[in-house]
Amino acid sequence: MIPLVYDQINRWGKDDEFFLSLLNKINVKKIADVGCGTGRLTTHFAKAGYQVTAIDPNEEAIEYAKSKKYQDEVTWIVGDSTNLQTNAFDAVIMTANVAQVFLTEDSWKKTISDAFRALKTGGHFIFDTRNPLAKPWEQWEKDKTPEVAMDQLSGEPLEVWTEYEGFVEDIFTFYETVKNVRTDEVVIHEKMQLKFRTQEEIHESLQKVGFSQIQAYGDWEIKQATVETKSFIFHGVK
Ligand SMILES: C[S@@+](CC[C@H](N)C(=O)[O-])C[C@H]1O[C@@H](n2cnc3c(N)ncnc32)[C@H](O)[C@@H]1O
Repeated sequence: MIPLVYDQINRWGKDDEFFLSLLNKINVKKIADVGCGTGRLTTHFAKAGYQVTAIDPNEEAIEYAKSKKYQDEVTWIVGDSTNLQTNAFDAVIMTANVAQVFLTEDSWKKTISDAFRALKTGGHFIFDTRNPLAKPWEQWEKDKTPEVAMDQLSGEPLEVWTEYEGFVEDIFTFYETVKNVRTDEVVIHEKMQLKFRTQEEIHESLQKVGFSQIQAYGDWEIKQATVETKSFIFHGVK
């Protein structure tokens, strides 16, 4: 996550609309947004009237989030799921593939156990994650053009280049490099890693920590995921 360019290269999309409409459908009030990043979606939850607690370990991202409209209606926490209050929320949500940043089984189990602990009885856990069977990396690797962005403070033109290293077991590694187009200077170079879990692995892990009524919707519609689904949206109930 590179806060300097994140919102510029991750534009509002059908995934964001889906999360808002799903929350609306299940009729919740108090929500926790775990891995909220720059608050790209969080402030829209606040605007929609939810009482939001938003958590992310990236301090710079939280600072950036605090410059947005509706930010003062959100409780921001620099931290992780450990910081969630117990029996406090109607929904815990993780958007834009946060589920894939947990590289080890221990960190994944800890996060979903914390989400379970944080929910009131009957509360909802909702998150998206990419389907490894759809092999999204094959498409990513074909795209050799940089993303165009701008340093919002200085107005300097930027390019974001991505290099893909590939898999070691089920962890995919890539690098993002932000370059100043005018000076050719490398502004940021960051290693990123994603863990790909199968639908079955995720379902089983959610069941183990106690979630019930577990569903996996496919590709931003309230319908059952298939093997061809690109993104799963998991929804479990405490
Ligand atoms: C792809 S971004 C998604 C940001 C945001 N949810 C959105 O919709 O734009 C992934 C986020 O996960 C956060 N993250 C990394 N490790 C984490 C952890 N252990 N607990 C919670 N969030 C974490 C990163 O800092 C980053 O902001």
